[in-house]
Amino acid sequence: MNAGIIGIGRYLPEKILTNHDLEKMMDTSDEWIRTRTGIEERRIADEKINTSDMAYEAAVKALEDANITAEDLDLILVATVTPDRPFPSVACIIQERLGARKAAAMDISAACSGFMYGIITAGQFVQSGSYKNVLVVGAEKLSKIMDWKDRNTAVLFGDGAGAVVIGPVSEGKGIISFELGADGSGGKYLYQDEYISMNGREVFKFAVRQMGESCINVLEKAGLSKSDVDFLIPHQANVRIMEAARERLELPIEKMSKTIHKYGNTSAASIPISIVEELKAGKIKDGDLIVMVGFGGGLTWGAIALRWGR
Ligand code: ACO
Repeated sequence: MNAGIIGIGRYLPEKILTNHDLEKMMDTSDEWIRTRTGIEERRIADEKINTSDMAYEAAVKALEDANITAEDLDLILVATVTPDRPFPSVACIIQERLGARKAAAMDISAACSGFMYGIITAGQFVQSGSYKNVLVVGAEKLSKIMDWKDRNTAVLFGDGAGAVVIGPVSEGKGIISFELGADGSGGKYLYQDEYISMNGREVFKFAVRQMGESCINVLEKAGLSKSDVDFLIPHQANVRIMEAARERLELPIEKMSKTIHKYGNTSAASIPISIVEELKAGKIKDGDLIVMVGFGGGLTWGAIALRWGR
């Protein structure tokens, strides 16, 4: 059985926080943030909106797009490092709200790589024939774990959610190859106690190396070459990291998704949020070879080569 993305949706909070707004809150500048990260603005969820609310909204759209109901779901996986509370999981909260009575539910903790961990796990259940429809959501309210006095991290992140339904697709479509990895020895470079704490330079070095390598590895596993890639969807953490992956694949600029200027780093939500953006812009077409690649705290990483379409 081939497993692919059969439906997709996203939720973005309405409130926009620009770099100029941040200039009034801390010692930073629009120029510094834009040139170092590529970020111009990000969305911040209201006090009243929690991660599960955003996950729910994105999930409803993904189910509609897949043309299935919540009762058709066998499993719900929510990738998040900002659950409403340690338990019950966000997955269980939205299972109830959606009315997905048949579905098992759990959260995945792999920071910004969480969405890659989620869709690869979902793909295994579908490929084996154990499950038919698996909802995978990446949802984050990072604003609640950001230290608004720390300019090193507060300028980087945003809130949002993206969801996909992973289900059976026709021959030749869907997930072709994947890679997942972790290196716990790098946990000290990016973690949360009360707030996010980061050694930006170490994370940057790791990310540049890992993003490029993972892209090459999934292509090799799939028996494909760089020139076969139609579109690259990198985790949106820093435009310079994304550019390094694009250059490694020798792709022209128009073949890489860039949404970081509008949404900042939304962690596990950044890849599905970006896919929706590119679909709306008509940049992803049926039959395209898509490479998705992410990295994050843990340290963790993941990549997929996927043929778009049902
Ligand atoms: N505004 C102005 N100045 C700042 C700001 C800011 N917001 N933040 C830091 N600076 C200063 C620093 O204090 C430093 O000053 P100093 O030299 O006087 O000490 C100076 O800018 C330069 O700092 P660098 O660390 O050299 O800047 P760099 O070019 O490395 O960029 C950045 C920093 C953007 C954080 C980069 O290292 C990066 O993107 N790293 C990866 C981060 C990342 O991807 N994190 C997400 C991981 S995903 C997850 O799982 C959550």
